[in-house]
Amino acid sequence: MIQELPKISISLFPKSDFPNLLTLVNGQPLAYLDSAASAQKPHVATEATSMFVEHQYANVHRGVHTLSQLATDAYERVRDQVKVVLNAADRNEIIFTKGCTESVNLVAQSFARPMLRPGDEILLTELEHHSNIVPWQLVAQATGAKVVAARIHDNGELDLEDFKSKLNANTKIVAFTHISNALGTILPAKELTAMAHAVGATVLIDGAQSGPHAAIDVQDIGADFYVLSIHKMYGPTGVGVLFGKLNLLEAMPPYQGGGSMIRSVSFEETTFAELPAKFEAGTPNIAGVVGLGATLDYIAGKNWNRETWVNRISEIGDYEATVREYGVSLLAEIDGLTVHGDAEEMAGIISFTVKNAHPHDLGTILDQHGVAVRAGHHCCQPLMHRLGVPATARASIAAYNDLEDMDRLAAAVQSAKELFG
Ligand code: ALA
Repeated sequence: MIQELPKISISLFPKSDFPNLLTLVNGQPLAYLDSAASAQKPHVATEATSMFVEHQYANVHRGVHTLSQLATDAYERVRDQVKVVLNAADRNEIIFTKGCTESVNLVAQSFARPMLRPGDEILLTELEHHSNIVPWQLVAQATGAKVVAARIHDNGELDLEDFKSKLNANTKIVAFTHISNALGTILPAKELTAMAHAVGATVLIDGAQSGPHAAIDVQDIGADFYVLSIHKMYGPTGVGVLFGKLNLLEAMPPYQGGGSMIRSVSFEETTFAELPAKFEAGTPNIAGVVGLGATLDYIAGKNWNRETWVNRISEIGDYEATVREYGVSLLAEIDGLTVHGDAEEMAGIISFTVKNAHPHDLGTILDQHGVAVRAGHHCCQPLMHRLGVPATARASIAAYNDLEDMDRLAAAVQSAKELFG
């Protein structure tokens, strides 16, 4: 049965703000349902970035000349914005990296590696993306620590009892995703963090999927580390964020050496710069960070503040949940189709398989209809193993999608199914 939902004919973000959404794909209008892999970029933000590159560009933190100061101001303004997005207590808790993956590796190598001892445990969950598994395996191999994973229920929800039972005095790190990229499950980040802290563990939260869809408050959650992927937040590629509590970041050694992160260098000894520079070696992705600022202004409107940001991002999350609900109700009508993931709290992701159709073949046929989904293991091979499937097809919803995109998805799946017989 298709429930009665108001037909949303205009998406929350107008499609016309995103030039790439207006392209024809295989002769069809594009229904872009792969924003969990990477979101499309609003024209105003890419235009603002080009303006910056063409008219204000210079290296940051180095020159006394006017352009360098303008560029430094533009770059540092974005650090203040990200502080507001995450509700961090201090701007020096915000480190720009080249992506979420680098942020996790930074914490694994700079925080965990010097501290872990043989027999220590790193607790993950079965929902994790490879980028929140492999960096921990690398430090575990180097230190003799052990990686442990908390189980999920069949509906994709974290098994809280199992999570709790795997916390003990040896648990030194707990790392989990805030929103599962493969299923859409939203994890109770505050509750999990409190449980981890109760045994003295340090918590890293992978916010790759939550950044563009949910209000995040690192102080309320109590997160020790929180990482963001900017290209999934409608921003440029090559930029990530690491939030870390000030006392932790201050105590950590640098991750990479190079320009900008030093106070003084001689061949005998180098002393390091204060935060955040200590963790931003080399010339950063200046244009990318400035582009992030312009993107945040697009999302929340000029002169946004914490309150307006939270309202806007919550509106986006609610809107996407409505679109998802409609999409799931359409897909549920298709014989032989299974939607994977049905937790109490779900973000705008629909992961599905169709009997007798490999997800890759399904993805290829959907593409012929102009419907872009991701097909594969979504960088979550342990999760696929747990679900007993080699892969799924995944439609991921952003603020520029509408109910018509869901109609297109369901119609394309239906015609693919007829082809497969
Ligand atoms: N992590 C990205 C995804 O889920 C690439 O597709």
